[in-house]
Amino acid sequence: MLAADADLPLLNHDDPALTGEKFHEVLDDLAGRTWLVRSDLGYLVLGRDQGMALLKDRRLSFPAVELLELQGLTDGIIYERTTNGLMAQSGQPHARLRRLVSAAFTPRQVERLRPRLREYLAALWAEIAGQGSCEVVTALARPLPSMAIAELLGVPGDAALLARWSAGLQAVFDMDMTAKRAEIEAAYEEVRDYVLDLIARRRQQPGEDLMSALVHHEQDGDRLDDDEIITLSASVISGGTDTTESQLAHGLRLFAEHQDQWERLGNDPALAERASQEILRFEPIVPFTARLVREELELDGIVFPVGTVLFVCAATANRDPQVYADPGRFDIMADRGSAQVVTFGFGAHFCAGSHLARAEIVEALAFLAPRMRDLQPDGKAEFGTPTGIYTMRSLPVRFTARRPA
Ligand code: HEM
Repeated sequence: MLAADADLPLLNHDDPALTGEKFHEVLDDLAGRTWLVRSDLGYLVLGRDQGMALLKDRRLSFPAVELLELQGLTDGIIYERTTNGLMAQSGQPHARLRRLVSAAFTPRQVERLRPRLREYLAALWAEIAGQGSCEVVTALARPLPSMAIAELLGVPGDAALLARWSAGLQAVFDMDMTAKRAEIEAAYEEVRDYVLDLIARRRQQPGEDLMSALVHHEQDGDRLDDDEIITLSASVISGGTDTTESQLAHGLRLFAEHQDQWERLGNDPALAERASQEILRFEPIVPFTARLVREELELDGIVFPVGTVLFVCAATANRDPQVYADPGRFDIMADRGSAQVVTFGFGAHFCAGSHLARAEIVEALAFLAPRMRDLQPDGKAEFGTPTGIYTMRSLPVRFTARRPA
């Protein structure tokens, strides 16, 4: 049966009231009844198996370029960089870029950063420890990821610059090109000039950083050209900042709401790995990821014609009761088995920075929990909307600072 003819519930997932607990209540209730829901822009895929099948299906792709065309943009630097970016590519060209990036962006690159992450956390903590309260997003969650990306690229002094560009590049998703085009173009142009200069320096004098690896890595006679390195750097700057910020902020919110678990983690920071895994499962900050049907396909008796827009839902996939026992419970001690969370996507476009994001979250939890004791809300938390990146706008908390034993 054609999707358009199927009798499906309707949900406007852009509804600004759908945040926090309400968001999960509504979605989990729907997911218990149906794997597919109609929305104003297309269909929401709530079933875990169906969602994962679609994410690895080559007949669909991420509509990055279409999103720009919808906003009237068909040329210029934003259009070119997006067209050549990882998310917009598929098939062989995408596989080639991923191969070269993965060979440069190795787990070793991330391990190299851990001691630096701990130094940054210590500096951020020193600013707030004496106050007994803070707004978590500005004090901790926002600064850490751009510090990490700056370290990764080998430009540790330039975190603030990268944070500014990240905001500029991300504005592509605000769907307001008329107002934001100049700002986004300026960010792309500045990134291009900056990266070109960095490439020249690393070519002369390579270091241990990702930029040096991208410049010097060669595989079977193939290597990234300058243009590809610029585009990839823009993806790392924009993809690696707001995402980790939001995941860390939601994570600290969950712990402020579950004080017994924060205390447990504080007494045993070695639990940080599993705590981070439970945060990622419970509150994926890319709750929906979009796909465009390029070739007609049928799934579980439903036919999706070319041009259909689907939003695959990680939030419900991560709470599938067939896979996780008592999935609506945030519990860092629960045995969640080995099932993969869908927070970083699935298939060809699986997040290229997942190991860095995990390292940042684990280091932050392991550092903060023994020091930031009695963490609790201190006023109303402000949530972003769970479309695109599900941010925390503000998270005021109180705590008792303690020097760990
Ligand atoms: C908790 C933090 C993060 C989350 C939840 C996250 C989530 C995601 C998701 C869901 C996708 C796939 C989207 C899709 O298939 O439609 C993705 C792709 C990507 N992410 Fe992340 N991400 C995070 C952090 C990072 C970091 C730190 C970096 C870079 C250092 C990064 C770089 C990328 C890139 C380059 C892609 C595109 C991969 C491709 O198209 O092959 N992300 N991310």
